[in-house]
Amino acid sequence: MKFLGLFLIGILSLSSILGEQEGCYVGAKGSLHFPTNFSFGVATSAYQIEGGWNADGKGVSIWDEFTHNKPHQITDGSNGDLADDSYHRFDDDLKLLKDLKVGHYRFSISWSRIFPNGDVSFKNQAGVDYYNDVIDKLLANGITPLVTIHHSNTPLEIQKRGGFTSSMIIDYFVDFATELFEMFGDRVKNWITFNEPWTICNLGYGIAVIPPLFNDSGLGDYVCIHNVLMAHGATYRVYKEKFFQKQGGKVGIALDTNYFNSTNSSDTVTFERAMQFNIGYLAHPIFSKDGGYPPVMVNDIARNSLEEGRFRSRLPTFDREWRDIIKGSADFLGLNYYRSNPLRKASGPVGTSPSFERDLNVESVLDLYTCNPEGLEGVLHWLRKEYNNPPMIITENGWRDDYGKIEDDDRIDFLKSHLQAVLNAVNDGCNVYGYTHWSLIDNFEWVFGFTNKFGLYAVNRTSPTLERYPKKSAHFYKMVISSRVSPNGIIV
Ligand SMILES: *[C@@H]1O[C@H](CO)[C@@H](O)[C@H](O)[C@H]1NC(C)=O
Ligand SMILES: *[C@@H]1O[C@H](CO)[C@@H](O)[C@H](O)[C@H]1NC(C)=O
Ligand SMILES: *[C@@H]1O[C@H](CO)[C@@H](O)[C@H](O)[C@H]1NC(C)=O
Ligand SMILES: *[C@@H]1O[C@H](CO)[C@@H](O)[C@H](O)[C@H]1NC(C)=O
Ligand SMILES: *[C@@H]1O[C@H](CO)[C@@H](O)[C@H](O)[C@H]1NC(C)=O
Repeated sequence: MKFLGLFLIGILSLSSILGEQEGCYVGAKGSLHFPTNFSFGVATSAYQIEGGWNADGKGVSIWDEFTHNKPHQITDGSNGDLADDSYHRFDDDLKLLKDLKVGHYRFSISWSRIFPNGDVSFKNQAGVDYYNDVIDKLLANGITPLVTIHHSNTPLEIQKRGGFTSSMIIDYFVDFATELFEMFGDRVKNWITFNEPWTICNLGYGIAVIPPLFNDSGLGDYVCIHNVLMAHGATYRVYKEKFFQKQGGKVGIALDTNYFNSTNSSDTVTFERAMQFNIGYLAHPIFSKDGGYPPVMVNDIARNSLEEGRFRSRLPTFDREWRDIIKGSADFLGLNYYRSNPLRKASGPVGTSPSFERDLNVESVLDLYTCNPEGLEGVLHWLRKEYNNPPMIITENGWRDDYGKIEDDDRIDFLKSHLQAVLNAVNDGCNVYGYTHWSLIDNFEWVFGFTNKFGLYAVNRTSPTLERYPKKSAHFYKMVISSRVSPNGIIV
């Protein structure tokens, strides 16, 4: 989902507009085989594929409300009411998963499908039945479910009480997750609490691009991330205390980041700053030895806040207890990586005050259509060094196009080079145990509606049965999965 950068300075390069695949290749280094325990998978999320927005007692989520009331904010005016209708057509999706022979399938639970009002006092059995069916069918076919608990679509009722700006969200989320562990944890052993908190909070509570459309950068987004981290940490502790002994599963989080391609390679200060304000923001509290936010953020946001005449930092602080709850609260780090952005030191203050942009204060250019596999290797090595090589899995990585062609050679180039980058990182000692391609099928791509396509399979949207059919990239990925050899050597 990481579709916007931090700081929209500059324009897309000509090559990206022409769609050339500049730099979309990395050579093989070391072993030409993926380790035997390396898992290949694909990802989707509930709102983007399920449809059935009000089917069988489902409640309203913030994305239902947003797309219905503000269709002009979606590129094609569309919504996820029907999406790929996976709520009624999971068997069609299952066929594709079996065809690819994936090791794992990452999907998310629609909170309001199970708890229409968000709180656990009322449970919608039809929603429970749906996910039981999905999980059972995956397991019957030898596919490991990797379940995301929160992937953007917060129940509207909870949003009305402040959503992620209210610390009430911590209890709501812990209760929701506890119910999921109880209902599905006998079979689901791999849980992701949150998908892309940075983006959810930045775009939703900072710069008003996605619901709840709060335009409160440098304040609302910081409160959002603070509450996400506490909800995550508390959920992890509940799992460890109440469920782990019996269920033996793993709980992690999916963090998104761009990598940064510095225009001045000796300026490591600017590069480090960008990494810390992006993935470090969420990863430092969970994966670092000391816990808490990255020192560079703590110091600089406090300084800016004082200069603005405030008595305290806009960046909230964790007390000792919360810091310890959050520190070490993940069995793995899920990484969503799409691109690398050019970066340079700011020549003066960037953006308005106060804002995240101003606090970060670097200059960068966003390019959505860029293929930068070396950036993925770069992020993995940075995480390895920074957090003592935690177990990592790529939870999203994929190629966006807006024509949806079946002969998608550009997607194959992207997939091939990024898989090779992952294999290289593994060979260099990064503890990466899986790769999850975004996405299984073309789906509702948030504010881009159906205009942006990420699928290995296309969906015929004019057909009443929404047939799925393979793109060339599906054949390529299938060959990688079955051979488990260096993708550079595979030609379709
Ligand atoms: C995968 O296997 C390698 C080599 O045997 C081992 O070092 C690594 O810990 C294993 N990873 C997982 C997640 O099991
Ligand atoms: C957010 O607020 C800023 C500053 O008041 C304003 O310039 C900007 O247009 C607003 N953005 C949105 C999306 O409302
Ligand atoms: C590149 O960065 C280094 C280290 O910050 C600095 O000394 C040097 O002047 C920079 N070069 C340019 C061309 O900006
Ligand atoms: C950075 O950009 C240069 C020039 O475009 C390219 O050669 C290099 O591979 C990029 N590096 C990373 C890590 O993205
Ligand atoms: C999509 O479905 C329509 C209606 O069934 C059919 O006419 C059309 O040929 C299909 N397109 C593709 C690409 O299969």
